[in-house]
Amino acid sequence: MEEIVVGLDVGTTKVCALIGEVKGEVVNILGVGEAPSKGLRKGVIVDLDATVKSIEHAIVEAEKSADREISEVYVGIASSYIKSFNSHGAITLAAEPIEITVQDRDKVIETAKGAALMQNVEVIHVIPWQYKVDGQSQIKDPVGMYGSRLEVDVHIVTAAVSAVKNLIKAVDQAGIAVTDIVLQPIASGEAVLTEDEKDFGVALIDIGGGTTDISIFYQGSVVYSKVIPLGGSHITSDIAIIFRTLMKEAEMIKKKYGSVLPNEVPEDEEIEMRIAGSDEVKKVKLREVCEVIRERMIDIFTRVDASLKESGFYDKLNATGIVLTGGTSLLRGSVRMAEEFFGGLPVRIGKPRNLGGLAERVDSPIYATAVGLLRYGAKHISAVSSTEKDWLAYIVDRIREFFKSIKI
Ligand SMILES: Nc1ncnc2c1ncn2[C@@H]1O[C@H](COP(=O)(O)OP(=O)(O)OP(=O)(O)O)[C@@H](O)[C@H]1O
Ligand SMILES: [Mg+2]
Repeated sequence: MEEIVVGLDVGTTKVCALIGEVKGEVVNILGVGEAPSKGLRKGVIVDLDATVKSIEHAIVEAEKSADREISEVYVGIASSYIKSFNSHGAITLAAEPIEITVQDRDKVIETAKGAALMQNVEVIHVIPWQYKVDGQSQIKDPVGMYGSRLEVDVHIVTAAVSAVKNLIKAVDQAGIAVTDIVLQPIASGEAVLTEDEKDFGVALIDIGGGTTDISIFYQGSVVYSKVIPLGGSHITSDIAIIFRTLMKEAEMIKKKYGSVLPNEVPEDEEIEMRIAGSDEVKKVKLREVCEVIRERMIDIFTRVDASLKESGFYDKLNATGIVLTGGTSLLRGSVRMAEEFFGGLPVRIGKPRNLGGLAERVDSPIYATAVGLLRYGAKHISAVSSTEKDWLAYIVDRIREFFKSIKI
C-alpha cells in the first residue's frame, strides 16, 4: 500500500515542502514547494512570524503542484541546540537462557535511555544500532532468540525543549500538524546513501547555509550525529565583508564563479563586483575570492575532521568514505578538496536517489533533507504497523500460555 507522505525541511536559507509517495525503492515526488527562509540563524528560529510565513508559502506551493491538501508533515531539525551521544544498556533476563520478547527489548532500550538523559531536553531519536545476546554482538533484532543477558548500543539525539517547541509552533501556526521531528542529517542519509554504504560505514556531511550536519552510518544504522553551526552563508558573508560588497552580490559571485581550489584559477582572471553603498563597480581577482572561500571551507572541514575523530567510528570509513551533500557541496572542487583534506578517503557528492514523478525538480544535493524526510516518513509508517504486529504476536502468545496453564 502506498502512503502519501509530506516532508518539510526548514533550512537556514530555504524552506522546502515535498509531497510524495514511496513505492518500494522509488520516491515519487508529487508536489514541490519552496520559499526563502527568513527567520533562522544557524538552524535556530529567531523570528517566529517570518518562519511561519516561509512555511506557509512552501506548503501552499507544494499543495498546488500536487493538487491536493495536506494536514501533517515530517519536519527536520538541526541546530546547535542538538546533542547526540551513544549509550549502552544491559539487563539480565534469567539464569537459564529464555526466549527474548518485545518487552525485554523495550526494557533494555529504556535502561540505555535512562542512563543518559538530562533535564530540559526532548528526545528526538533513540536508535538501537546493535544488540548483544550473552556477549554475542552485531545482532540487529534479538526478539525470538534465546539468551540470559541482553545488551544494547543506542544512539540518542536530543534537542533543547525550546528549540523543538518553537519549531512545532511555527509549523502549527502555518496550519499543519507535525507527525514527527527528524534530525536533518538522519533524513539526508535516507535520501542519498546506498544500503551498502550504510552497512560498511560512511560519513554524510550536509553542508547547508547555516549549518554543517554530520551523520555516520554503520551496520545499517546511524551511530553518530553532530550539527556544526557553520555553512555556506558564512562563506558569503566573508566575501561581502572582505571585498566590501553586498551580501546578494557576494552570494551570486560565489555560486557563479566560486571554487575551493584557488590555485586552479588563472592568476590574472578578474571579475566585476558592485561596491556596497554605491553604484560603483570594481574589479577583483577571482583567485583572491576563491582563497577566501577556501579558507572558510578549511575551517568547516577542520571542525568536521575533529567530529569524525571524536565519533570513534573513523576507522570504519575506509571502504566507502565520505558523502558530501547540501547546497555548499556544489562549490567547484569540493570533492577534490575533501579527498585531500580527509587523508585520501573516498569522497562523492550525494543527491537524492531513486526518484520518480517531479524528479528533476529535486535532483540536487540541496534537496537531500526534504527527500530524506519523505523516505523516513514512509519507513516510519511501516515500522508502526510492524510494532503493532509484534504486540499482536505477544498477545497471542500470552493467550496460548494462559490456556496451557489451565490444562495443568
Ligand atoms: N551552485 C552553488 N555553488 C555554491 N554554493 C551554493 C550553490 N547553490 C547553493 N549554494 C549554497 O548552499 C547553501 C544552501 O544550501 P542548502 O539549501 O542545503 O541549505 P539549507 O538547508 O537552507 O540550510 P541549513 O541546512 O544549513 O539549515 C547556501 O549558502 C548557498 O549559497
Ligand atoms: Mg539543510
